[in-house]
Amino acid sequence: MIVQDLSVNAVDLLLKQETATTRPFIRWHLRRKFCVMDGLFRRYLAPDAKFADIGCGPGDALVLASLCAPDAELWGLDMDSASLQVARKRLPSAILHQGDMHDPQELPKEYFDVVHEFGAAFLSRGWDILARAYLSLLKDGGILLWELPQRYSLAHIAYLLTLAPRKSEDDSRWDRLFRSLNPSKYRFESDASVMRALQMSGYEYEILERVSIGSFYFPKYFHGLLDWGWKLFGDRMFDVLDSLTKTVLQSDAGYYLAIRKKSRVASDGDTA
Ligand SMILES: C[S@@+](CC[C@H](N)C(=O)[O-])C[C@H]1O[C@@H](n2cnc3c(N)ncnc32)[C@H](O)[C@@H]1O
Repeated sequence: MIVQDLSVNAVDLLLKQETATTRPFIRWHLRRKFCVMDGLFRRYLAPDAKFADIGCGPGDALVLASLCAPDAELWGLDMDSASLQVARKRLPSAILHQGDMHDPQELPKEYFDVVHEFGAAFLSRGWDILARAYLSLLKDGGILLWELPQRYSLAHIAYLLTLAPRKSEDDSRWDRLFRSLNPSKYRFESDASVMRALQMSGYEYEILERVSIGSFYFPKYFHGLLDWGWKLFGDRMFDVLDSLTKTVLQSDAGYYLAIRKKSRVASDGDTA
């Protein structure tokens, strides 16, 4: 019971910090995301865990991890310097690096108890590369908490209508517009290809659980419409749309896999 109260407090505290995002749909979505994240952190983060957040952005997950495990050693990696600056202000004691999640050279290998990533896989050039990179950072027995978007979910359909993602800090709008014609501009994969990506990592692993974050998701172009509906029906409308989406599409906009790293499979090149 006490754990539950603490959990609500951590999520509420974090939501209060989201001053830029006051729109009802975003707040509903963030509450779901933070509640699921909070539950996972409380299950898998020991109080003094070594924790790395990949694609950490402005540091939401790091803040939540610091609330769930106050003595944890916090590391973050992102390619975007502006987001890292925000994260640095929020978490002065965290070790934050600018770098590429596909090749996180700035982070020590086989060092972390928990590696976490939320909302970056759909921007990746290959989930097999990510799986290998993330698992390489974990100690044997360490946990990867990996959030993935599902193929043919509402999020997938919605992102087909969205501008292609920024490739670098100086990517122009015209280049993004041109790349938007490519339907695979965002990466959404089937469950089978997630399994393939993990198998190709070269590490032994065990999937501990799969946790859905929800099925209903619309990107920002539609938020005005959703906010208008919210004025009439409140948050209940989003809950109903979520179960409706789940029934029709039977897919998750996003879900977590909790994966335990076992040990590296010896390859031909490895010495005994
Ligand atoms: C949708 S945001 C999610 C941010 C944060 N994890 C959250 O949950 O709020 C995706 C983040 O991934 C970062 N990112 C995208 N591609 C990356 C790459 N190749 N290497 C490192 N970070 C990357 C972006 O800069 C951005 O901060």
